[in-house]
Formats: sequence, structure tokens, C-alpha cells
Amino acid sequence: MPSILENVRQWRSYDWSSRGSEWCEGYGGVENAWQHAVLPRIRSFVPTGHVLELGPGYGVWTDYLCPQPARAKAARKAGGDALSRQMTLVDLAPNCIKFCRKRFGRKGMLYYANDGRSLRMIDDESIDFVFSFNSLVHADLAVMREYLLQLGRKLKPGAFGFIHHSNLGEYSEEFGHMDPAYEHWRGRDMTGERFREACREAGLVCIVQELLPWGSERFIDAHSLFVRPNPGQRFEERIIHNPDYFEQARAGDHTAEAWYRRTP
Ligand SMILES: C[S@@+](CC[C@H](N)C(=O)[O-])C[C@H]1O[C@@H](n2cnc3c(N)ncnc32)[C@H](O)[C@@H]1O
Repeated sequence: MPSILENVRQWRSYDWSSRGSEWCEGYGGVENAWQHAVLPRIRSFVPTGHVLELGPGYGVWTDYLCPQPARAKAARKAGGDALSRQMTLVDLAPNCIKFCRKRFGRKGMLYYANDGRSLRMIDDESIDFVFSFNSLVHADLAVMREYLLQLGRKLKPGAFGFIHHSNLGEYSEEFGHMDPAYEHWRGRDMTGERFREACREAGLVCIVQELLPWGSERFIDAHSLFVRPNPGQRFEERIIHNPDYFEQARAGDHTAEAWYRRTP
């Protein structure tokens, strides 16, 4: 829970007029979320050849990562340092894919509405970086395992991925007496530990996992960075609990406010 069917219903009928900015309020807005939460965590991996984004919604992050500088307004502002050469978007909501196709056009872009679990449209060993933010938090363990199993083949050897996912399952003992509003519709059986196990099953290594609080002091979310190692490469797993995650992003904003380029 939430199931794929529930996700399809939710995101097909959702009012997308805010285009994803509603999930960035805790960061101090979209630009701040990108500059101080997302980009610092993926800076070593973009720009690159081919980026796969899972669950782009209406393209709030695609706008920073997609190949067209003319459309990647905010990426240009940041010096255009996050533009990939090719990008593939996969989302289970056809309305999202339709909107993104119109928004980002055809040049360097491929779009697929999928069944919420299959990546069969992607060639093996064709992806340099896979990215998902604010989306697969709503996926359960079975979906996550299936995506990771496929990513073990779709990523090029030596390539990395970053996925924002649920850790709500770690609080399963509180289910029943936890206010459902605190669950934020996260995958109930998903945990950081299960994500790391699923990586191992897929031949991937989760090299950093940051557990973070979302909407309460509970660490119900995680950001996981993983790699498909080249033969013979050894990576350690590192786990971080970050209770100050949102404060750090907002503090970044205050620094940025003081140092931006002014016109008199
Ligand atoms: C909360 S929205 C976030 C969208 C976007 N990442 C953002 O931050 O604005 C969740 C998105 O993930 C998509 N999604 C949910 N489960 C998915 C799955 N199993 N496979 C692909 N897309 C999924 C939904 O259709 C929706 O577009």
C-alpha cells in the first residue's frame, strides 16, 4: 500500500496546477529544494549521457536535468551544469507523460507511460544515471524490488542512481495508533534496509542511504545512492540519519539570499 492501481487513480485525477511545487514548501520552494537538497546530492553524476527519471510528474526536476537549455531555465541560471544529453521519462500516469512531452519536446527526450513496474522499453546497459525524487516514496517493496532488479541490467556498468523512497515500514509497530496523516501515503512495507537488500539482489550496491524526517520527527523517507559496480569493484554501504535535513536546505537559502548577484 499504496498499490499501483491506487497510484494510477491518485495521479491521473490529481490537480497538477502547482506542477510539484507544493511538495517543495518545506524546502523553501522549488529552486531552493533543487539548489540545496537535490543538486548537492547528485552533483557528481550530472551532466551525463543518458538520464532516466522515474515518476517525473509534471517535470519539476526534469526541467533542471533535461537536455534543452532553452527550456531548462533554472539550470541555465545555475550555469547549465545539470544538463544531460539524453533523457527518458517513465511515469505510470499517462497525463503526466502527455504534459511532459508537450513541455519538454522531442529533442533528446523519450517518454513512456508504464504499468508502474516495467522498464522493458529501456535498452540494457543504456543508462548513465537514474533519478527519482518525491515519487517512489509511494511505491511498496514489490515495486521497488522490481525496478531495482531491472536497473541492475539497464544501468551501464559503473553507473549510479539516486532514488527517494519510503522508510515508513520501520514504524510498522506504530501502525494502527499513528495518525494516518503522518504516513504521507508512503509505501508501508518499504524500509531503508529492504532497499539495500533489494540492491544486493539486483547486483547493485547502495553506497549512501540518508534517512530523513518527512512531516514529523519520524524518519519515514530515505534518499539512496547506488551503483552497478564494474567487475572487481568493491563499495561500502554507508547509512546516515539526518534529523536536520530540511533545516539544512532552508539554511542554504539564507546563505544564497545574502550572496546573490545584485543589480543596484
Ligand atoms: C508526488 S508525485 C511527484 C512528481 C514529481 N517527481 C515531483 O516531485 O513533482 C508522484 C509521481 O510519481 C508517479 N509514480 C508513482 N508510482 C510510480 C511507479 N510505480 N512508477 C512510475 N511512476 C510512479 C506518479 O504518477 C506521479 O507522477
